[in-house]
Amino acid sequence: MKIAPSILSADYVNLQKDIEVVDKAGAEYLHIDVMDGSFVPALSYGPGWVKAIRPITNMVLDVHLMVQNPERYVELFAESGADIIGVHVEATPHIHRALQQIKNAGAKAEVVINPGTPVEMIKPVLYMVDQVLVMTVNPGFGGQKFLPETLKKIQQLDQLKQTEGYDFDIEVDGGVKDNTIKACKDAGATVAVAGSYIFDAADPAGQVATLKEATK
Ligand code: DX5
Ligand code: ZN
Repeated sequence: MKIAPSILSADYVNLQKDIEVVDKAGAEYLHIDVMDGSFVPALSYGPGWVKAIRPITNMVLDVHLMVQNPERYVELFAESGADIIGVHVEATPHIHRALQQIKNAGAKAEVVINPGTPVEMIKPVLYMVDQVLVMTVNPGFGGQKFLPETLKKIQQLDQLKQTEGYDFDIEVDGGVKDNTIKACKDAGATVAVAGSYIFDAADPAGQVATLKEATK
């Protein structure tokens, strides 16, 4: 399973150091949470951060847009160096267009669903995505508790991969720790985001190793 540390819980003053630590520890993705104060209550950071991070790591930059009408920004994030750009199906009435824009801009396209959104909502676009992000908490903040009812949706998506021949990655985000990651993997998730579990600890590299160990 690929591990995607979320810099939302990193030390912003020493961000480069935190990124190097998880990079060296073998994390494959770096998860960057963009919040607009509208789709979610909090504000975080914009494309300038992606641009600043791009030259300091070869990790896959996995940008999670928690913004209303994300199609306004996808080109900017792609130009800034994002490898994967995720848009919430709840945030736009034009999900096909938003995903197509991401692909046209040369990035991998991801569709994201909140815990309260059924898989049915994204069935029409599954053929065109590289990754599906199943939120395992309601987005907006780090450090929330994993919602186990989301596991059923992961299983459902994994089933659809088999029956329809899709090959997207399934990512989980929110409340991922050593005691929740295994259930995600067993349900079919292939990428796990973890913020507070990794960066709130004294030894972030050790936390990455523990997550990897828990899914062996
Ligand atoms: C929450 C963000 C997450 C967050 C996860 O809205 O999308 O990526 O950083 O934090 P933890 O791992 O602490 O739940
Ligand atoms: Zn996220």
